[in-house]
Formats: sequence, structure tokens, C-alpha cells
Amino acid sequence: MLETDHNKAFAKTMAQHKSFSSSPPSRSSVLNRYISLLNGFLFIVSILLLLGVFLPWSGSALFPFQNTISSSLPSNWRDYSLSQAAEFVAKDGTVIVCAVSYPFLPFLNNWLISVSRQKHQDKVLVIAEDYATLYKVNKKWPGHAVLIPPALDSQTAHKFGSPGFFNFTSRRPQHLLQLLELGYSVMYNDVDMVWLQDPFQYLEGSHDAYFTDDRTTIKPLNHSHDLPLPDRNGVTYICSCMIFLRPTNGAKVLMKKWIDELHAGSKAYEGNDQPAFNWALNKTAHQVDVYLLPQAAFPTGGLYFKNETWVKETKGKHVIIHNNYIIGYDNKMKRFQDFGLWLVDDHSLESPLGKLE
Ligand SMILES: *[C@@H]1O[C@H](CO)[C@@H](O)[C@H](O)[C@H]1NC(C)=O
Ligand SMILES: *[C@@H]1O[C@H](CO)[C@@H](O)[C@H](O)[C@H]1NC(C)=O
Ligand SMILES: *[C@@H]1O[C@H](CO)[C@@H](O)[C@H](O)[C@H]1NC(C)=O
Ligand SMILES: *[C@@H]1O[C@H](CO)[C@@H](O)[C@H](O)[C@H]1NC(C)=O
Repeated sequence: MLETDHNKAFAKTMAQHKSFSSSPPSRSSVLNRYISLLNGFLFIVSILLLLGVFLPWSGSALFPFQNTISSSLPSNWRDYSLSQAAEFVAKDGTVIVCAVSYPFLPFLNNWLISVSRQKHQDKVLVIAEDYATLYKVNKKWPGHAVLIPPALDSQTAHKFGSPGFFNFTSRRPQHLLQLLELGYSVMYNDVDMVWLQDPFQYLEGSHDAYFTDDRTTIKPLNHSHDLPLPDRNGVTYICSCMIFLRPTNGAKVLMKKWIDELHAGSKAYEGNDQPAFNWALNKTAHQVDVYLLPQAAFPTGGLYFKNETWVKETKGKHVIIHNNYIIGYDNKMKRFQDFGLWLVDDHSLESPLGKLE
């Protein structure tokens, strides 16, 4: 960046130099002297900037920002706390979080490429579910992964849907609540998602919680932003996959209720935290100001990947695509590939993690 900028400035000066040399000699020699002075000045500025980037000038008043950052990072990532991590990544009081175990790193990278394209990667915090993920992410992208003990052991990590695995996904509302208590707005995403546009522009108003409907039934474009009515089984299908929360009492009440519901019914939910989230929404409806995001912008995978007609009709409106309504890791990956949403093979350099081997 710096070098490019300097080169551009240099090229511009050279171009001016050329055009000036066709003017009368007396004027030109004064200008030449001025230009060489300017070049010298640019050169010194460049050197100063390069030194600032490559040398750790501890205590320098010129680069106080850098010092703040490096002093807040621990020497061992095991000691990195959620509050330190949130402080490090947050921008304008907002953090984007996901929770990932080692086998899902390719999906994390895919999602990160899409987030980077919308220029929101700097505020991403990866909640690592195992130490391998913690070290891998922080090695490639220091400070952007945190592990909240206990860690998932590698055996359990592969057993999606097992009680042990559920134990982990069920900690999600606790992490979100902790971030709210620290005063941050939080966006949570599953990593089997791809951003096509910037979701933040859709977070209209100042509601406590924003989420999407996982039902495949097609709604009119102007559908209501209220919590949908329960279906004839008395349940709603709000997705726990994409949630935005402001650090308000309402959002905290909702997270606490979600935690209670998970504890109360962990057997009944059979490894899925989504029903508990829906009961929490139902039971806190009078205390929490919620906002249902537009279906055309945030469609469930059960609609986006299954109804080509609808996708054509709503072209240009899609913001985040969720690769759900499919079972199996390989099937998920293949579906992203089939729909041109598997970005890691050709675009890994756009991810802050680069290419994962
Ligand atoms: C779930 O987590 C709790 C506390 O972390 C632990 O005591 C329990 O053994 C775990 N259950 C399973 C099935 O892994
Ligand atoms: C959506 O638009 C239709 C037709 O224009 C209208 O009848 C309906 O009331 C609108 N619904 C909402 C929720 O605004
Ligand atoms: C909560 O769930 C009950 C039972 O399904 C339903 O009758 C009620 O309308 C729901 N309340 C809200 C606010 O969705
Ligand atoms: C697919 O989408 C079209 C256009 O919105 C709709 O008319 C049709 O009913 C949908 N098909 C299914 C199977 O939902």
C-alpha cells in the first residue's frame, strides 16, 4: 500500500516533470529544483513510514496505536480472554462472532472471504472450540481467535449431533451474553454461510435482536418484521444461525432465557439449540423488541438452493446465503461448489487466513 502510494506519487511527479521540461528553460530549472526537493521529501516520508511499519518503535509517540495493540495480545493464546479478544477486534463497538471446530476451518475460510469482500473481516472473532483451531487461526491472523474453556476434544469434534457436541453448540448463548455484558453489539453467524452483500445495512432501527426465518414458505417481499406466528404445531422456526444483538436489556433477557431453555430441555432438543431459541423468543416476546430480517435478503438454504424460480425472481436481493437443509459435511461443500459459492479454491488470498493446507 505505502509503496504503491509512493510509486504513484513518484510517477505523477515524473509525469509533471516531463510536461514541464517543454516549457521555457528558465522557468523549468526553478521547477526542476522544486521537484527534486519534493521527491526528496516524499522519499524521507516513505522511509519514515516503512520504519514505522517494520520496526517495533516501542514508546514512540509517532505510533502509539500499534503499541496499544501489541501490548494487549498475550504471549500464550491460552491466556487470551474473551474480553481481551473482543476489545482487540471490535470496531465501533461491534463484534462479529462465529464458533468453529477444526474440521470446519475450510468453511470458516470460505465465509471469511465473503466477509472480507464486504470489508467487515477486521471485527471477526472466531470462538475456537478446540486448541488446534485456536493456534491455527491466531498463527495466521493474530488475535482473531479465542478459546473459552473447556475445549472440545478432537474425538467429540467429529461427532456432530452427539450429546458431547451439543454441549458445545449449547454454549453459544453464553458467549453472546458475555459479549453483551461487556457492552458490544454482536453479530453471530454459522460458518456455512456466504455473504453476497453487506448485512449491516439491513439492521434497520434500534431493535434488541435481529434474526431470520428458517421456514421455506415463500413470503411477500413486504412481509412483516415481527416475530412470525407459530405454525399449527405451535412452533416458530427462527434460525439460530444468524443473529444480531444490541447490548440492551432486552437482548440480555433473550440470551438468558435461551440459556435457561437449553438447560431445561437439553434432552428433548436432541442436539439442536434452535428450538430452545424459539421458545426463548416466544416466552420473552413482551420484553424484547425483535426484528425479523427480510426473507429475500436472508433466505434459508431450504429455499435458496431448492427453488430456482424464486432465486431468479429475487435476483440482486440476496445478502447472506445459508447452506442448511442438507445433511453431511461433504454434501454441504459440494452444494457450495455447485452454486459457485465455494470460494476457497480460487480466492483464498482474499481471506485473512490465506490458504489453509
Ligand atoms: C457437558 O458439559 C459439562 C460441563 O462442561 C460436562 O460436565 C459434561 O460431562 C458434558 N457432557 C457430555 C455428554 O459431554
Ligand atoms: C404488502 O403489500 C400488499 C399489496 O401491495 C398489501 O395488501 C399488504 O397489506 C402489504 N403487507 C404489509 C405487511 O405491509
Ligand atoms: C407462544 O407459543 C404459544 C404456543 O405455541 C402460542 O400460542 C403463542 O401465540 C406464542 N406467542 C408468541 C408471542 O409467539
Ligand atoms: C418456487 O418459487 C416460485 C416463485 O416464487 C413459487 O411460485 C413456487 O410455488 C415455488 N415452488 C415451491 C415448490 O415452493
